[in-house]
Amino acid sequence: MPQPQDTSTKEAQLFPLRLQKFLARAGVASRRGSEDLMSAGRVTVNGEIANELGRKVDPSSDIVAVDGKVVHLGGQPVYLMLHKPKGVLTTMSDPFSRPTVAQLIPVQEHPGLFPVGRLDQDTTGLLLFTTDGDLAQELLHPRCEKEKVYVARVEGAVSGKDIKALEHGIELEDGRTAPAHAHFLQQSDAQEKRWLQQVGEPREGDSVVVLGIHEGKKHQVKRMLAALGHPVLALFRPRFATLDIGDLSEGSWRYLTEDEIAALGKLTNK
Ligand code: URA
Repeated sequence: MPQPQDTSTKEAQLFPLRLQKFLARAGVASRRGSEDLMSAGRVTVNGEIANELGRKVDPSSDIVAVDGKVVHLGGQPVYLMLHKPKGVLTTMSDPFSRPTVAQLIPVQEHPGLFPVGRLDQDTTGLLLFTTDGDLAQELLHPRCEKEKVYVARVEGAVSGKDIKALEHGIELEDGRTAPAHAHFLQQSDAQEKRWLQQVGEPREGDSVVVLGIHEGKKHQVKRMLAALGHPVLALFRPRFATLDIGDLSEGSWRYLTEDEIAALGKLTNK
C-alpha cells in the first residue's frame, strides 16, 4: 500500500496537541468546556476514556470521540482514489465482517472518508473517496451525473447492432437507459490494451466492450449487457468523471492531485 505523503508539514509541526485544545479547535466546546467533558469521562481517544487533562493527541493517528461520536479537526477536505479489487464490498463497515473498501484506505487518518457511489463486489476499478459531502452530492446528482467508463468482458460475440443498441438505450425493468458511448475495445490503443489486462483476454467467441454511461442504476452495466444476451464475466471501471485510474495498481490508493481536485470542482461549479 502506498504511504500517504505528508501534505501538512505546517500542521504536523503543531502536533501532538493537548486534547482540550484539539476539542476546542474542532469546535466541540471552549477549552474550559472541553476539560469539563473530559473530566466527566465523555471523551475517548482510540476507544479509551481520556479524563486526564495533560493528555496529548496526534490528529493524524488518534481517533477522538465525544459521547461516541468521532470529532474531526476542520481543515481541508480529503480526496483520494482507490483501485478497488475484486471481492471487496463498497461499504465502510459490514455486519458480517466481510472485506470492505474501508480496510484499504486511510480511515484512521481521515475518519470522515466515504465512497462516492459504489462498485459491485466483483467489479474492479476507480472508486473516489472524499470527506467533501457537497462535491459527492453534486457528482451523484442525476441532473449532472458524470460519465463513468466501464470495460466489460462478456460472454458471446457482441455485434455492431448491439453496440448501437447500447448507445441508443436499453429497456430495463426500471426504465430505458440514457444514451451511452459504446465501442469494442481497441487493442491498438495503448491505454485500452492496459484495460484489457484488467478484465482478462476473452475466450474464443467472447467479446470486450467499452461503455461510457451517465447514470448510476443498480448493476446497470451488467443488466444492459445481459439484456442483449451477453452476461458480464469481468467488469472494470477505469474512469469516473474527470478522473482516470492510470497505472494505479489493484488494491492501492492515492490522494488526488490539486489539478484533479480543481477539475472536479469545475465540473460541479464548486
Ligand atoms: N454497473 C454494474 O453492473 N456494476 C458495477 O459495479 C458498476 C456499474
